[in-house]
Amino acid sequence: MTTLNSHNIPRHVAIIMDGNGRWARQKGFGRVFGHEKGAETVRDVVTASREIGVRWLTLYAFSEENWKRPQHEIQALMKLLRRFLKRELDEMQENGIKLNTIGRIEKLPAATQEILLHTIQKTRENQDMVLTLALSYGGRQEIIDAVQAIARKVANHELDSSDITETLISNALYTQGMPDPDFLIRTSGEYRISNFLLWQLSYTELYITPTLWPDFTKAEYLRAISEYQHRERRFGSTGTGQ
Ligand code: IPE
Ligand code: IPE
Ligand code: MG
Repeated sequence: MTTLNSHNIPRHVAIIMDGNGRWARQKGFGRVFGHEKGAETVRDVVTASREIGVRWLTLYAFSEENWKRPQHEIQALMKLLRRFLKRELDEMQENGIKLNTIGRIEKLPAATQEILLHTIQKTRENQDMVLTLALSYGGRQEIIDAVQAIARKVANHELDSSDITETLISNALYTQGMPDPDFLIRTSGEYRISNFLLWQLSYTELYITPTLWPDFTKAEYLRAISEYQHRERRFGSTGTGQ
């Protein structure tokens, strides 16, 4: 068992949940089966995060670029999401988990938007952890939306260009009000960000594991958090004792 320092739990963990398709293919199944197994991992990681005291958990569930996938896979993912939300509502209520989303939610099928909004509404008073699902999310699209909103304000003389600061930009992003991630996990061994949280990850600690998402266990998650606890975050300063 991994022992964690309860005083150094990352406040915000973000995860690129990758490798469902390969996991299924390796076992001779269709990709959708991998997504189904992946949904079980989501549940385990949400529960573990809540147990160890992570306050913000952000999961990359569907990227803007994932719309390029075959229709049947997209439909299966949307259906799985609806099923997940229905099934997990009671658990979220019992554990004080508040649901949030980032991304161009308006692009999702109406039935998916409906259950998302319903779950957000039902869980809005929960205080223990914020679970954010990145859906139809792209970091560049988020920056475009923010720049457009800011440009409109400048054009309307509500804002001067000299008012544009780091804080102002952060507050114009989908993640307004959320702290930047302390720790980013990517499964399936790809060394890339894939358009996730481009602005917010500037000083995030990265952890990449070859494990495919359906095989990612609570034990590995806790080991990853333990590794985070041994990192020295310098934010551009000199290290301690130097
Ligand atoms: C991650 O698994 C889930 C989504 C992107 C929705 P993938 O479906 O990308 O699985 P691989 O990377 O093809 O194995
Ligand atoms: C990133 O995985 C998106 C999600 C996990 C939702 P992808 O499988 O889409 O990323 P690439 O194509 O390997 O970069
Ligand atoms: Mg992938």
